[in-house]
Amino acid sequence: MIPIVKTVADVRKYVKAWRREGKTVGLVPTMGFLHEGHKSLIDRAVKENDCVVVSDFVNPTQFGPNEDFETYPRDMEKDAALCEASGAKLIFNPEPDEMYDNALTTVSVDKITKVLCGRTRPIHFNGVCTVVSKLFNIVMPDRAYFGQKDAQQLLVIRKMVKDLNFDIEIIGCPIIREADGLAKSSRNTYLSSEERKAALCLFRGLNKGREAADTGADVDTVKALIRSEIEKEPMAKVDYVEVVDLDTLEPAADTKNILAAVAVYMGRTRLIDNFIIGD
Ligand code: PAJ
Repeated sequence: MIPIVKTVADVRKYVKAWRREGKTVGLVPTMGFLHEGHKSLIDRAVKENDCVVVSDFVNPTQFGPNEDFETYPRDMEKDAALCEASGAKLIFNPEPDEMYDNALTTVSVDKITKVLCGRTRPIHFNGVCTVVSKLFNIVMPDRAYFGQKDAQQLLVIRKMVKDLNFDIEIIGCPIIREADGLAKSSRNTYLSSEERKAALCLFRGLNKGREAADTGADVDTVKALIRSEIEKEPMAKVDYVEVVDLDTLEPAADTKNILAAVAVYMGRTRLIDNFIIGD
C-alpha cells in the first residue's frame, strides 16, 4: 500500500532517498476527496517524473470565516487507493499543527490576487501561496502540477514561482469535466440533484461566450452572452463573470489572449469554471 506520511521529516526522508538514487520528483498539491480532475494531474506527473508525491491537506488558511472548511469532504481511504492505482509513490497528509505550529510568516502575491475570486475571497490566495510555498520547500520537486480548473490559482502560482525564484517547473493541466460538461470538483458533492442539473448553466454560458469570441465578437459582447445564459437559470446567483487579459488579469481589450472566468452560487455552493484563449 502507498505510504501516507504525516510529518515534514518523513517526507524529507523519502525524497532524500529518491534523490540519492538520482530520481526526479513530481508534486501534485491537493485538498483530497480526489476525482478524475486530480487523477489527470497525478497521471501526467507519473508520466513525467520517477517519483510522485501527492499532498492531501485541507488547508485551513485558504478558507474564509464563513466558508466550508469544516464540511469540506474527506475520504483518505479512497484517495489512497486512487493515488496507488495511478502510480504515485507517497501521500503527504499532515495535520494543521504540523504545517502551522505558531507560524508568523505568510506569502502573498499582489494585484492579480485582488480580482476575480480574490474579491469575494480576500484571504484565499494568501493561504494558497503560503501552503504551496511550504509544500515546495518540503518536497523540493522538479515539477508541480496544477489544473486550469482553478485558472487564477495557476497564474498566481506561476507568478509566485517566478518572483521568488523557486527552481520548479509549473505544469498546467486541462479542465476535466463530467460527461454533460460540468467541471469536476470536490464541491459538486454538495449539490442537490436539482442544483446539479442547474449547475450546467456555467458550461452553457461559457460555451456561448467561446463561440461568440471564436466568430469575432468583442469582449463586452462575450461577457454579456455568458452572463445572460447563466442568468436564464433561476437557481444561479452570479458572483462574477469576467473576461480578463491572461497575463495581467486586468480587463481585456480584445479576445486574443483572455481568461473568461465565472463564479456562480448554486444554493450555498460556489462553483467556478472558465475558458482560455491564447497560451
Ligand atoms: P484542490 O481543489 O483539491 O485541487 C487540487 C488541484 O486539482 C488543483 O491544481 C486544481 O486546479 C486541480 N483540479 C481540480 N478539479 C479539476 C478538474 N476538474 N480538472 C483539472 N484539474 C482539476 O486547488 C487546491 O486543491 C488547493 O488550493 C491547493 C493548490 C492544493 C492548495 O491548498
